[in-house]
Formats: sequence, structure tokens, C-alpha cells
Amino acid sequence: MTDQYSLKSPRGETVLPWIQASEGPGALDIRKIYEKQGVFTYDPGFASTSSCKSAITFIDGEHGILRYRGYPIDELAEKSTFLEVAYLLLHGELPTKEQLEGFVHSITYHSMVHESLKTFFQGFHYDAHPMAMLTAGVGSLSAFYPRSINIYDRQEQQVFAQRIIAKLPTIAACAYKHSVGQPFVYPRNDLDYCSNLLYMMFAVPCENYEVDEVTARALDMLFILHADHEQNASTSTVRLAGSSGTNPYAAIAAGIACLWGPSHGGANEAVIHMLEEIGDRSQIKKYIDKAKDKSDNFRLMGFGHRVYKNYDPRATVIRKMCHKVLQRLGKENDPLFELAIELEQIALNDPYFQEKKLYPNVDFYSGIIYQALGLRPSIFTVMFAIARCVGWVAHWQEMVNDPDHRIGRPRQIYTGAQQRQYVPLEQRDTKASPD
Ligand code: CMC
Repeated sequence: MTDQYSLKSPRGETVLPWIQASEGPGALDIRKIYEKQGVFTYDPGFASTSSCKSAITFIDGEHGILRYRGYPIDELAEKSTFLEVAYLLLHGELPTKEQLEGFVHSITYHSMVHESLKTFFQGFHYDAHPMAMLTAGVGSLSAFYPRSINIYDRQEQQVFAQRIIAKLPTIAACAYKHSVGQPFVYPRNDLDYCSNLLYMMFAVPCENYEVDEVTARALDMLFILHADHEQNASTSTVRLAGSSGTNPYAAIAAGIACLWGPSHGGANEAVIHMLEEIGDRSQIKKYIDKAKDKSDNFRLMGFGHRVYKNYDPRATVIRKMCHKVLQRLGKENDPLFELAIELEQIALNDPYFQEKKLYPNVDFYSGIIYQALGLRPSIFTVMFAIARCVGWVAHWQEMVNDPDHRIGRPRQIYTGAQQRQYVPLEQRDTKASPD
């Protein structure tokens, strides 16, 4: 589409240049609207607003398509590995054999964290939520590497990327171990990324722990599916925080904080709590009715998406994987999984969900897999964060290297009081002021 767009008003006509996308909708460049027309645009939740140009991930929500750097997600999930996908997202191309070996080596050899982080975790109460500990633990890395980052230096960007991707599983495992009251386990350089994570989470000093290969591969695949999702809330948070030039570890901590919310990554934990609350199939109708009732805040967790108006392609892969993992673990008759399948079918056939195009999303089944692996629900979003960190770093790098990049500073439509005079305390009418 190359039509000319313009905005006409009593102040005159302003041409809105057209920005072409390589695929999917392009955009109207509205940067000059305020200067020329004296008005802002209004788009809460950014439903129609592109905050940046990006060459990392493409989503076609109408057709359920997701591609990283042009490669379809189902193909990557089947054929690639998480660290290869991380390289692809960060560098734009699949690595050669040597490049991949070098990348894997540097991630592996950056996985230890400063010993004093252990004491940091011990300062948390025993029931602190692991996402709170992860946010703080990652934020604290900015104190360990305070002066080492010139954010515009490509070499330093690479070192930051390797450090954070390497250390996040170690910090996540510390958060998990603290929450279950077990000693921290050091990383092992002879294990691959996901095997090492499982080892740090499940090994205890009093016995040997063998990582199950199939479980590690399932986790690796889950991480590929979660690695990036273009300008979602947490990625946009990392971009916004990073736009001020802040220490990038602090920007990633901000992204983790955003991911925690139940509308975003926190949905995987919320799905399990919801399924437990529903309890059994006889209660499904009651909860579907609650989800449709506008006077009730309850939503069907793991359903719906801002962009997908079709089945989330990640959910398709995860659903299949869920069957395999449960079979492998001898849990194929898992009651929560059976309840989830039944709930999904009933919702998909319900006119409310059909009309609003609400389909299961990536979080609907991932919690069931994590639960089957023996993880507690409070750690599910931490697992999501480890995977999404790769996307956050790729977007942070893309942003700082983008010549169009400026500090993010949205405008507003002010709806408060107009100028008024200060009233001294003794003259104020106490009844008039709302509490
Ligand atoms: N259950 C019941 N109704 C829903 C649901 C749901 N899960 N999701 C959306 N709706 C309804 C909503 O009430 C609204 O109805 P109406 O038009 O009558 O007011 C309509 O569908 C559109 O919803 P919206 O809130 O305007 O849509 P959104 O794009 O702002 O929100 C969402 C997207 C994912 C936050 C929302 O669908 C939701 O809350 N889902 C449940 C939480 C969830 O599973 N989140 C994970 C998202 S995927 C992974 C990730 O992002 O990390």
C-alpha cells in the first residue's frame, strides 16, 4: 500500500509519510502531528501503535503465524536448540558450526555468579515469591557490573548478552532453592543449557542426580517457543527502561517485573491455580459462565491474546509436547491435563469465545508440563523469564543501535483540575475532600 495519507484540520493539512513493512501492515509516521497540528494521538494499550521498527520477530495474528528472523516457530522448535535460536535472535542469522560452538562455550563459561549473591538470597523470607527474588537478583547484577558497560559499544553489548543469558538460570535456580529450603547448587560446565538448569534446580548434595535427556529436550523446546514475541509488554518495558540509557541489567529486571503479571507471563502459574480451583469437570460450566459474566473479574486464564485471533502457534506445539512429556513421565492420566483438554474443548465450542476469537495461548499448557517435571507453580514464570531474556536482550541491542532511537516519553490527555488557588489547611472544608 503506497497511498498518500494526510490529516486535515483548521490548522491545515499534514502529510503522514507511509512506512513500509517487509511483511504485515505498514504504519503512518505520526511524529510531526503534534508539531504541525498541536494534537496528540490516543491509543491506550498500543493496539494500533508501532513503538519501533524491528527485524527480529514477525507475527500474523489472524493466521496464527510466528517467525523468528524469518524462520517458522514450529520448524525451529522441531529442528533447532535454544542456544542456536538465541544466536539467531541476537545476530540475525543461523550460526555456522564454529560460531555456535564459540557462542555455547561463552554462555557455558559465564554461568557462575558472584559468591556474595548467595547471602543476598538468604536475606529473603522463606516464602518470598521466586519472581520477586529473580527481579531483585537480576537487578543486583547492575551493582556487580556498574561501570563496565558502554551501551553503544558492540563488543560490550555482546559481553552483556552472554553474561545475562548465562547467569539467569543460576540466579533462577538460587531463587528456587531458597524457596524450597535446599542448598544452592553450582552450575556444571559439562551439561547443556537446559540440563544444567534442571541439575541446579533438582540436585541435592546427599545423592546423585541424573538429568533425563527427554525432559531436558522438552524444556529446551519450551524455551525456543518462549524466546521472543516482538513488542509484548515485558519487551516493551525493557525497551522503555533501556531507552534512558540505564544499566541494561536494570532494564532486564524491569522486564522481569512486567512479565510477572497474570495478564502476561504470570498466566502459566494462574492457569494451574485456576484448574485446581475448578477441581473437576462438573464445575467447568460454572467457570465458563463466570468468565462470560461482565460483572465478574474472573477470566479464563491461558485464553485470549492481543495479537492472535486464531490458535496461538506456540500452543499447538506445546499441546503435542504435553502429551509426550506426560507419557514419558508415566503421568498420561494426569487429572489436571484431562481437565485442561475438556475445558479447552468446551470453551472453543462456546459462542462467546468464538465471537471474541479467544483461543488457548502459550501459557495454557506450559504450566502442566512444568508441574509434571516436578516444579512448583511459583517458579513457572521464572522459567518463562529465562527463555524470554534472549528476546529482551535482542530487542535492547536493536534499540540502542537504531539511529531513530530516542528516550521513550509518551504524552497524555490531561483530564485533571485546571489551575486553582491553594487553600490554607484551616480554611479547608473537610467534608468536601474525598479520602
Ligand atoms: N476470558 C474471558 N474473556 C476474555 C478473556 C479471557 N481469558 N480474554 C479476553 N476476554 C474478553 C474481554 O472481556 C473483552 O470482552 P469485551 O469486548 O466484551 O469487553 C474481549 O475479550 C477483549 O479482551 P481485552 O482484554 O480487550 O483483550 P486484550 O488484548 O487487551 O487482552 C489478554 C489480552 C491476554 C490480556 C486477555 O485475553 C487475558 O486477560 N487473557 C487471560 C490471561 C492470559 O492468558 N494471559 C497470557 C497471554 S499469552 C502469554 C503472554 O503474553 O505472556
